[in-house]
Amino acid sequence: MQTRDLTDSFGRVVKDLRISITDRCNFRCLYCMPAEGMKWVPREEVLTFEEIERITRICVENYDFTGIRLTGGEPTVRAQLPLLVERLAKITSPVTGKTLDIAMTTNGATLASMAFDLKKAGLNRINISCDSLQRDRFAKITRRDQLDKVLTGINAAKEAGFAPIKINVVVMRGVNDDEILDFIEFGRANKVTPRFIEFMPLDADDDWSSDKVVASDEIISTIGSRYAIKSIANNSDPASRYAFADQKGEFGVIPTVTKPFCGSCDRIRLTAEGQLRTCLFSIDEFDLRSAMRSGSTDNDIKAIIERAVGLKWAGHQIGNVNFHRPSRSMSQIGG
Ligand code: 5AD
Ligand code: SF4
Repeated sequence: MQTRDLTDSFGRVVKDLRISITDRCNFRCLYCMPAEGMKWVPREEVLTFEEIERITRICVENYDFTGIRLTGGEPTVRAQLPLLVERLAKITSPVTGKTLDIAMTTNGATLASMAFDLKKAGLNRINISCDSLQRDRFAKITRRDQLDKVLTGINAAKEAGFAPIKINVVVMRGVNDDEILDFIEFGRANKVTPRFIEFMPLDADDDWSSDKVVASDEIISTIGSRYAIKSIANNSDPASRYAFADQKGEFGVIPTVTKPFCGSCDRIRLTAEGQLRTCLFSIDEFDLRSAMRSGSTDNDIKAIIERAVGLKWAGHQIGNVNFHRPSRSMSQIGG
């Protein structure tokens, strides 16, 4: 089969699809969901495994996408998740014959019972979110007293053979910015890679302000004041990566707000209810679910994907007067 690059009007080649497989979650993180009253998408409006598989196959077979990432909400609350992974793991690139690189971002709370099955099903990589190593603070941030479960989940992922395991830490001024070095020590001791993420204006409570953002430069200098570190190459990963001079691991920072990496963005996103978005901060969505459910052919779906990508904008405008925050929070878009 002939594939061709899916290129936007700024010359960026799209290669990565992030799929939110549910908008539901067993946590209620401060920066993502309100404490109560989340309205879930009705089940029949969420894409089926067949539909998720179809969109993925179209992207791989036509545009040679190399990777996908499963997100949520919390992807592990979707029933039968290993079965979905198994189906996606069978999709191969018509160009290289290789299987897809399948990654997942999870809060880790249920990994103790699932990590092994996910690995066996063909999941390649795992990122686990954890914003505090202090029990009380963790409970405040996630509104669930489950730090122990997440730590057990991180161990389970290690035992199942995932490597490297990345730990996503959203750094918020006055909330957890005093734990940067604790996370570094945790990472070095447990052989996992912390990745510090700048707080983005996607929180459900509309509580974001620029003074709550801890700039990645500040994070790097906090770590650099304690450890000898050096910058290392980062592929197309939005994280800037650093290694410790003593070779005991590495860490990353994701400077979405202070140094947007929009210029090299190679991803598009599919929401749980089948809406295609070309940016986390997009205002527009393209309805692939209706298209699929009204009998569209693969060519019709391709036309929608190509139109969406043709309209992908240059970048977000956080911090600029022109910035409009999207009306959806992270759990609804998919992280
Ligand atoms: N700012 C930064 N990161 C966020 N995430 C969720 N909401 C926000 C936000 N407002 C992160 C989660 C998870 C990933 C999917 O996105 O912590 O690691
Ligand atoms: Fe759930 Fe992740 Fe949102 Fe926290 S950030 S409420 S774990 S979806």
